[in-house]
Amino acid sequence: MTTTDETRSPGALEAELERMLAVETFDPPAGFTRRGPIDADVAAAAADPVAFWADKARELLTWDKPFTKVLNEENPPFYKWFEDGELNLSANCLDRHVDAGNGDRVAFHWAGEEGERLAVTYADLLAETQRLANGLRSLGVGRGDVVGIFLPMIPQVAAAMLACARIGAVHNVVFGGFAATAVKERMEVSDAKVLITVDGARRKGRTAPVKSAVDAEMGELASLEHIIVVEAVGAAGLGGQRAPMKAGRDVWYADLLAAADPVCPAEPMPAEAPLFILYSSGSTAKPKGILHTTGGYLLGATYTYRAVFDLDPATDVYWCSADVGWITGHSYIVYGPLANGATSVMYEGAPDYPDYDVWWKLIDEYKVTVFYTAPTAIRACIKWGAEYPDRHDLSSLRLLGTVGEPINPKAWLWYHKVIGGERCPIVDTWWQTETGAIMISPIPGVTSTKPGSATRPLPGYSPALVTEDGQPLSEGVGVLVVTKPWPSMLRTLYKDDERFVETYFSRFGPTTYLVGDAARLDADGYFWIIGRIDDVINVSGHRLSTAEVESAIVAHEAVAEAAVVAQADEQTGQAIVAFVTLSGGRIGDDATVAELREHVAARIGKLARPKRIIWADDLPKTRSGKIMRRLLRDVAEGRALGDVTTLRDPAVMAALATKVAEAG
Ligand code: WT7
Repeated sequence: MTTTDETRSPGALEAELERMLAVETFDPPAGFTRRGPIDADVAAAAADPVAFWADKARELLTWDKPFTKVLNEENPPFYKWFEDGELNLSANCLDRHVDAGNGDRVAFHWAGEEGERLAVTYADLLAETQRLANGLRSLGVGRGDVVGIFLPMIPQVAAAMLACARIGAVHNVVFGGFAATAVKERMEVSDAKVLITVDGARRKGRTAPVKSAVDAEMGELASLEHIIVVEAVGAAGLGGQRAPMKAGRDVWYADLLAAADPVCPAEPMPAEAPLFILYSSGSTAKPKGILHTTGGYLLGATYTYRAVFDLDPATDVYWCSADVGWITGHSYIVYGPLANGATSVMYEGAPDYPDYDVWWKLIDEYKVTVFYTAPTAIRACIKWGAEYPDRHDLSSLRLLGTVGEPINPKAWLWYHKVIGGERCPIVDTWWQTETGAIMISPIPGVTSTKPGSATRPLPGYSPALVTEDGQPLSEGVGVLVVTKPWPSMLRTLYKDDERFVETYFSRFGPTTYLVGDAARLDADGYFWIIGRIDDVINVSGHRLSTAEVESAIVAHEAVAEAAVVAQADEQTGQAIVAFVTLSGGRIGDDATVAELREHVAARIGKLARPKRIIWADDLPKTRSGKIMRRLLRDVAEGRALGDVTTLRDPAVMAALATKVAEAG
């Protein structure tokens, strides 16, 4: 059933989208009425952003000890926000709603892959969080200790994050799709004391034995004292045997909670106390441990969630389809929604299981009003066809969002028409793990949108474009920077201040944050993100480093050398292409391709598997030995070769180009 009751003929939809491509600007849909006022924020932030953030911090957050200092900029780029204030983040996300009489409100409508349903109220989540916090304490976890979290999309993941925050421990969540090797690496570099994981994770009708995979890797980690295991699938899910447990080290989540005191008062934490580390990919093979702190981060997530999703916590049902393991999940599944007292859907599974309509079925079932997803997911839905959403009543939706990569106008229009029924504003939200919160986005009901543009900065933020040598640009193409500190900015890279300064604050000095994206600014002041300026690949909105994938490939015994580049991809935005030289001048076959792909999956995760592997006798290098990735990208994308005169051996490129052309 469509919202208009018409039956769509595929050709008609296609033709209509084609026509709509000519429309450049969409005014806010007439039927959309904004609930939260915003004009005063825009004016206040323009007049004095620091005072604006101070006012918001007092208005939106509950402080145990009010701050008197707002921003400390004595030692840029090491900024401090609200430094003499104290608050607890789990108290802001849970206790204050329960205290206000909203304990019975649903925090998460959890939907399991096999049709299970569970409503977790704010009171439930508070109770679980307190017990787990005490359980963590009983294992010796205290302030500043790092706790790893490697869990699928189950309610315990939110409790785990909040329990850490409650006692001042620092969480380090690893995306459930990563391989155990990547988990180990992240536990090792962050000195994690405890890891919270699961016995097994379900995915599309199959179960991955997570705990035994983790065990195989985690053995020799000195810092790791305990592993807490959520029994999510049980013996039945694991072929008859419960997950292996090591005496003295491992403890079942349920046993830990049962033995724990139910009351755990939230510890007042200094605003600048570390809250979490989230590893993200950078220009080198070593992931960056992006560190966020308590007060500023929560303010960023709380304010932007309110402003961008225009939420009425009493009536809206919100759903963000991301995974908690990414920053989107941290800020817009857990902290932003909970701090605002919102009701969310949390879905365990994939968008195409048991069938392609599972998302739309859930939207109908829960009467979701606000839906936030990624362009790559929308493109997959387009491929599957409008008949799947058309089977369900999506009329509850009032607002749609996207994040993670530039959205192509065609996907934007399909989302607008097929999912939003042309009634819902679309917020294309630009931000990063480093920014902690959305920075550029339309304000729904206010900003006119242009498909493909994240539009304008939100109140309180100062993204800007500069030329290669740092001159401000008011229009045109340039390098994206942020010219003023903001509360939810990363504070450093974990235990690596030097790399923090080098990566973000060396090119244009210590007060100008280098984003890592190129962008275009149009005559209306709208930002159009072009893509990364560093060696980072964006596959389906997931950030991967070319160097990290290269080092995984090179670790295979048959490989002599590898170079990884991005290739434009209709489905995933970008795809990974690997140019590989095998030892002994060998040329690989299909079996070698499969083996290398599997090898990368085992070391990083499935999402890092190269889509294409091209065998190369040699790689194009400068005279100083640096691989020229730009040229490889030209070859992969079938472009004419540019200037090859700086190469040590220009013939290498001609040979490669011929080979790729022959392979089609
Ligand atoms: C990079 C950050 C923010 C959560 C998901 C990714 C790209 C993100 C958009 C957008 C165009 C976008 C940028 C950015 N990006 N949102 N709306 N339009 N590009 O977080 O892994 O830290 O990646 O994703 O290139 O730098 P992340």
